[in-house]
Amino acid sequence: MADDISIRYAASKTLGAFHASDKFVRGVMGPIGSGKSVGCCAEIIWRAMRQEPDEDGIRRSRWAAIRNTYPELKTTTLRTWMDWYGHATTLRMDQPITATVRFGDVELELIFLSVDRPEHIKKLLSLDLTGVWINEAREIRKTTLDAAGGRVGRYPSMINGPGPTWSGVIMDTNPPGDDHWWYKLAEEERPEGYQFFRQPSALLKVRPGVYIPNPAAENVKHHKLGYEYWMRQLPGKREEWIKVYILGQYGTVLDGKAVYPEYRDEYHCAGDILEPLRGVGLILGWDYGRTPSCIVGQMTARGQLRCIDEFVVDATGEGMGIRTFTRDIVKPALSAKYNGMTVLQSWGDPSGIARDGNDLSMFDIQAQEGIPTEPAPTNDPISRQDAVIKFLKTSIDGEPGFLLSPKCVFIRKGFLGGYQYAKMNVSGDDRYAPAPAKNKFSHPHDALQHMCQAASGGITVAINSQKREVKVKPSTGWT
Ligand SMILES: Nc1ncnc2c1ncn2[C@@H]1O[C@H](COP(=O)(O)OP(=O)(O)O)[C@@H](O)[C@H]1O
Ligand SMILES: [Mg+2]
Repeated sequence: MADDISIRYAASKTLGAFHASDKFVRGVMGPIGSGKSVGCCAEIIWRAMRQEPDEDGIRRSRWAAIRNTYPELKTTTLRTWMDWYGHATTLRMDQPITATVRFGDVELELIFLSVDRPEHIKKLLSLDLTGVWINEAREIRKTTLDAAGGRVGRYPSMINGPGPTWSGVIMDTNPPGDDHWWYKLAEEERPEGYQFFRQPSALLKVRPGVYIPNPAAENVKHHKLGYEYWMRQLPGKREEWIKVYILGQYGTVLDGKAVYPEYRDEYHCAGDILEPLRGVGLILGWDYGRTPSCIVGQMTARGQLRCIDEFVVDATGEGMGIRTFTRDIVKPALSAKYNGMTVLQSWGDPSGIARDGNDLSMFDIQAQEGIPTEPAPTNDPISRQDAVIKFLKTSIDGEPGFLLSPKCVFIRKGFLGGYQYAKMNVSGDDRYAPAPAKNKFSHPHDALQHMCQAASGGITVAINSQKREVKVKPSTGWT
C-alpha cells in the first residue's frame, strides 16, 4: 500500500470549474486531447480523498468507470487510470476488471465496465456505488446514464459511518451530434442538478482550410508538440471531423453544407438564456407560408445584436396562416414576456405583399392583428445572408456582434448545420444545391435574415449587381 501518492495534476480552467461543482450529474465536452479523461480520473481521486472516514478511520468510496466497448475500456479508460494512479492501484483482471486504490487512509474501489458486455451492464444494475464515470459519453445510451444515477449514493453504507460525502455521475466526451441526448440535456432541457462544461476549441478556423492556434485552448503544454498536436491532424480530414475533434463543436448528422460556416457555437451562443434588456426596443423578423416564423432581437447601444426569442410553427402539423400565428402565438407571447416594451421595427419576407383570397397581403393582416410589419427591402438570398454574416463577423470589445440565446433552439440547430445546402448526388467531388434546403430550420432562418436586415438600419444591398441604398423608414411604434 502506498502511504501517499504524488499527484502532478493541475487542472485547466474548464476542468477546474468542473471539479469545483458539486452537481449530481456533471459533463465536460471538448476537443480531442484536451485533458478530459485525465480530469475525470483526478475527480475520482479528489472525491475519494474528501470522503469522510468511516468509524474505523478509512475513507471508503466505490466507482464504476463505463466505456462503450471492452477494447476501448482496456486501451483507453483503464490505461489513463493506470498511467496516473497505477502506483497506488492493485488490478484484478476479472470480468469485469476491478481495481483497488489505497493510499493513506483512502480506500477506493473501481469497477471497469463496458456496455458491449451484457454481463457488465447486469453488474452495474446490482452495484452499490459512490459515483460513476462515463467515459466518451456520446457513445453511451441515455438509459445507461439513467441506470447509473440510481446506483450512486449507496456506498459507503451508513452502518459504519456518515455515508457518501458526495455522490453522482461524471461524464466526458468529444462533441456528439445535435440530435444526441447530451445536446438535449446540456443545451435544451438543462435539468436541475445537472451541469455541463465546455472546453474551448484547440484551433480557430480563420477561413476554409486555414486554422490557427486558439490562445484559450486547454492542455496545450501537456502535449510535447504543443499546438502541432492538433495542427498535424488536419490534413486528410473532412471538415466535419475537424469541427468535432479539433474545434470541439457539436456535429450534425445532416449531410449538407452549413449556410453559415462563420457561426461558432461556443462564441456566438450565450452560456445562459438571454433576458430581454428592458428599455431597449424589439426588432422582429418574419417568414410567411404555412409554417411561419418570427424571430425577436434587440440591438444594444454598442451595436451588439442579441437574438432573444423565436416563434416557430412545427412543420409536422397542418401548419397555420399568418393571422392565427400573429394573433394566437406571437402577440400573446410578446405581451406576456415583453410587456411594456416597444417594437422598434418589424420586417417580413417581401413576397408577403401578394394578396390572398380576401385581397389582403400578409402585411395587411398583421396590421389588422396589431403588429404593423413592413416588407424587408430585399429578397435577394445573398444580401439576406450577408445581413446575418455581417453581425456574425463583427466583434464588439471582444464580444460577438451577434449573440444568440440558447432558448432559440431552431435558430441554433440551423446555425450548427441544419440550415444547409443539400448535397447533390454527383459522383466524385462534393457538390451542393445552389440554394439552402427548405426544412424546419430554413423558415426560422429566413425570418432571422429579415430581422438582421431590419437591425442593420440603412443597409446597402446588391440587386443585379447594382448597389442601392435602402433607407429605414421611421420606426413604427408598437407597445
Ligand atoms: N492536468 C494534466 N497534467 C499533465 N498532463 C495532462 C493533464 N491533463 C491531460 N494530460 C495529458 O494530455 C494528454 C491528453 O489527455 P486526455 O485526458 O487523454 O485527453 P482527452 O480525454 O481530452 O482526449 C495525455 O497524455 C494526458 O496524460
Ligand atoms: Mg479521453
